[in-house]
Amino acid sequence: MKEQTLSIIKPDAVRKNVTGKIIDRFESNGLRVAASKKIHLSECEAKAFYQVHASRPFFKDLVQFMVSGPVVVMVLEGENAVLKNRDLMGATNPKEAKAGTIRADFAESIDANAVHGSDSLENAKNEIEFFFAKKEIF
Ligand code: CMP
Repeated sequence: MKEQTLSIIKPDAVRKNVTGKIIDRFESNGLRVAASKKIHLSECEAKAFYQVHASRPFFKDLVQFMVSGPVVVMVLEGENAVLKNRDLMGATNPKEAKAGTIRADFAESIDANAVHGSDSLENAKNEIEFFFAKKEIF
């Protein structure tokens, strides 16, 4: 089934100038960039986006990291886009990510882990709406 999912290239990967290399992983594996923008999240926006993790011990560090520099947010579209994106990203902790995945190749730590991807179709819809108006998605 054709799906849309939200991808964020996080501040560590933007700082390392590997945005293009990461997008190539998506495009070379059947995903299409349907929307894209580079933004610098405010603390308020980062807290709202990661609200589901608000009670977790890593929440404060996560928010601080996500506002540490600009990010690239994208809508990716393709067959089984949610799962495909998560397979391409690899495990949350880069130390556990399979060889050849984005996190194995570009991430440094569980916080600075290069990319975020929606973990379900329902979350993908909400996360896409958080960043993009319908008329910005093609
Ligand atoms: P992400 O997919 O963006 O979703 C939440 C983020 O919290 C996650 O990637 C990690 O970068 C970060 N994080 C830090 N510690 C943990 C942890 N113990 N479990 C899950 N996520 C964590």
